[in-house]
Amino acid sequence: MDFSFLPKYYMFFINGAKVTILLSIFTVVLGVILGIVLALMRLSRIGILRVFATSYIEFIRGTPLLVQLFLFYYGLPKLGIEFPDVPALGTAFPEFMAGVIALSVNSAAYVAETFRAGIQGIDKGQMEAARSLGMPHSMAMRHIILPQAIRNVLPALGNEFIVIIKESSIVSVIGISELMYNADTVRGNSFRPFEPLIVVAVIYFVITFTLSKLLGVAERRMKNSD
Ligand code: ARG
Repeated sequence: MDFSFLPKYYMFFINGAKVTILLSIFTVVLGVILGIVLALMRLSRIGILRVFATSYIEFIRGTPLLVQLFLFYYGLPKLGIEFPDVPALGTAFPEFMAGVIALSVNSAAYVAETFRAGIQGIDKGQMEAARSLGMPHSMAMRHIILPQAIRNVLPALGNEFIVIIKESSIVSVIGISELMYNADTVRGNSFRPFEPLIVVAVIYFVITFTLSKLLGVAERRMKNSD
């Protein structure tokens, strides 16, 4: 084992980790918003909304993320959707956006199922009580059901964040210089095929383990305040 490449190349790992975290934050925020919408569509009384949401969820969960990533990477420009370059980002913006979109579209399908379970897990009496007070269905959903459901699925959403941090390594294949991509660069430059991978594995683990501990603390706080 020879880690003598570290003094020269450590910035690659740090910059890569920054891009990985940024990518994951964008993805989780977009994925959760889209996921809630999909869950509500899936539980809606309007048939086509239900069919659309169900097909979306089944299709996304039934195809590999790698394929979805390439579909967006090559497909977005075909649809006329092109992003300008943003030099401050530290990685190519069009690639970054294709990565964020593919990851969020993927994550939303999983988040939608989490939310559906969360909403269906709220006692029927809550909706009945709200309706008997004269609230319309949508108002009861917004003010009574969703706040409780969101609370219940928060731990699962934290988990999704961790999954996304790990899954985001796949976007290295379209040239986003996140952690995995930069590790490959270091591998090539330093002629050490193995050691840079140990370094990235440790960095991924430190990020996900820290996050998991933080989420544990948040969860306990929430339980106590109950
Ligand atoms: N590795 C899976 C795939 O190739 C993606 C899983 C994503 N999971 C998630 N909870 N967002 O399709």
